[in-house]
Amino acid sequence: MSDLIWFDPGLCLIGGRWQAPLTGQHVPLVDPSDGSRLAMIARGGGGDIDAAVQAAQRARDGDWGRMTALARGRILTRIGQEVLARADDLAQLEARDVGKPLTQARADAVALGRYLEFYGGAADKVHGQTIPYQEGYTVYTLREAHGVTGHIVPWNYPMQIIGRSVGAALAMGNACVLKPAEEACLTALAFADICLGAGLPDGALNVVPGLGPEAGAALSAHPGVQHISFTGSVRTGALIQQAAGANVVPVTLELGGKSPQLVFDDADLDAALPFLVNAGIQNAGQTCSASSRILVQRGIYEAVKTRMADAYHALDVGPAIQDRRLGPLISARQKQIVEGFIAQGADLPCAAMGAVDADAPDGGFYVRPHLFADVPPDHPLAQQEVFGPVQVLIPFDTEAEALRIANGTDYGLVASVWTESGARQMRLARALKAGQVFINNYGAGGGVELPFGGVGKSGHGREKGFEALFGFSQLKTVAAYHGSVETGEMT
Ligand code: NAI
Ligand code: MG
Repeated sequence: MSDLIWFDPGLCLIGGRWQAPLTGQHVPLVDPSDGSRLAMIARGGGGDIDAAVQAAQRARDGDWGRMTALARGRILTRIGQEVLARADDLAQLEARDVGKPLTQARADAVALGRYLEFYGGAADKVHGQTIPYQEGYTVYTLREAHGVTGHIVPWNYPMQIIGRSVGAALAMGNACVLKPAEEACLTALAFADICLGAGLPDGALNVVPGLGPEAGAALSAHPGVQHISFTGSVRTGALIQQAAGANVVPVTLELGGKSPQLVFDDADLDAALPFLVNAGIQNAGQTCSASSRILVQRGIYEAVKTRMADAYHALDVGPAIQDRRLGPLISARQKQIVEGFIAQGADLPCAAMGAVDADAPDGGFYVRPHLFADVPPDHPLAQQEVFGPVQVLIPFDTEAEALRIANGTDYGLVASVWTESGARQMRLARALKAGQVFINNYGAGGGVELPFGGVGKSGHGREKGFEALFGFSQLKTVAAYHGSVETGEMT
């Protein structure tokens, strides 16, 4: 492994310099595929966060803050191209750090490059408006950076989430302080190294690894931070919003979900089937937009159950670098949580289970994928986010019933509708409680361009797409009084 890590994983990046954490402490990173130690990472604390925020502020006051949008965009594009050139290296790091099968890890690296290209190209295309107003005035708006932005990132898709939040924030000229997850932060450090190499000015991106309640809490409460972007659990999201609230700072929260797919009798089942299964088991179900509820109309319920069960029997689970359909879960703790959920399904029919490879290392955090059938909509497995490879099948009779069940959780991140009826597609796209609705697909292949975020407990604010640039900036209205030519001099 050490030959794959071309940077010192025990350091923080502050003001363009790699330095040891002021705490003098480190914590181990574990390879979830076999439980072995990968590296020691910095256990950054409040002092490191404070130094990072100050370095970010200096970047805002200096070269980075003064740079034109065109110049910022060129740097981001260069970073994106370098990320793409190094996609294989990044994929190797992510596979070992997250336990993510190599093909999926590589797709994440490509998505990171694509985010930087997208936001690099967008940087100089965000502009204000002129507003017709009273006689003698010219009124216009300016889009300005917040200043210093905080980014608290989870372990499940580090590269994608860094791409969508840090990429958009930098495009608008913010200076970022990134706190990656303690469970997985190698690609965050690798990305920072690539940014420096591509000419990102010192302090525009600072990285402080550390524990959530230490470095994370210090970042979310720091009075020098003007915006916080967080992806993770509802519990931590609420803490971060509270901390930011004390400083009257806006937050973007992306908190996961219980996303449903609605499959109607007239659906094209051959087309739907791969999406029904993959959306649930991708990244071993540790995906904010995982589809953990499959709602099926009674007329095709048995057919869907049989075909999904067949697909589950073919699922294999093994070490990330062997690139099976599923890798391990991120940690022993996450495995324990997910097995607790599976135990709660003891009263339900289990339609199928996948298998863990016989030669998968004993020390890895592997869980057999589970498909439960005939699940009552109010069952905990149909209400709570499992964050593991567990899906539930729920039968329904009418469209109204399907909608009631689909909207009947605290969450609202993503939903999809499988039907050939155009009118039903349109009705449900409007009625579903979700930030994204997919018609006859799920996830649209990733969709860097597509605004993303939740309603309800799934959070608020939008990342991804052009829309994110509005969240990572604020509007200033300028009203100039100049009088009119007829009246000549201003009176
Ligand atoms: P978490 O929400 O606690 O951690 C996510 C990030 O927040 C990490 O960087 C962590 O260091 C940081 N953090 C933790 N406590 C913090 C605090 N008090 N102040 C500031 N930052 C803090 O999630 P965790 O513990 O990794 O996983 C628990 C559950 O959360 C999972 O089982 C899953 O259900 C959910 N989750 C959802 C994700 C999503 O994509 N929506 C991602 C990760 C977890
Ligand atoms: Mg946590």
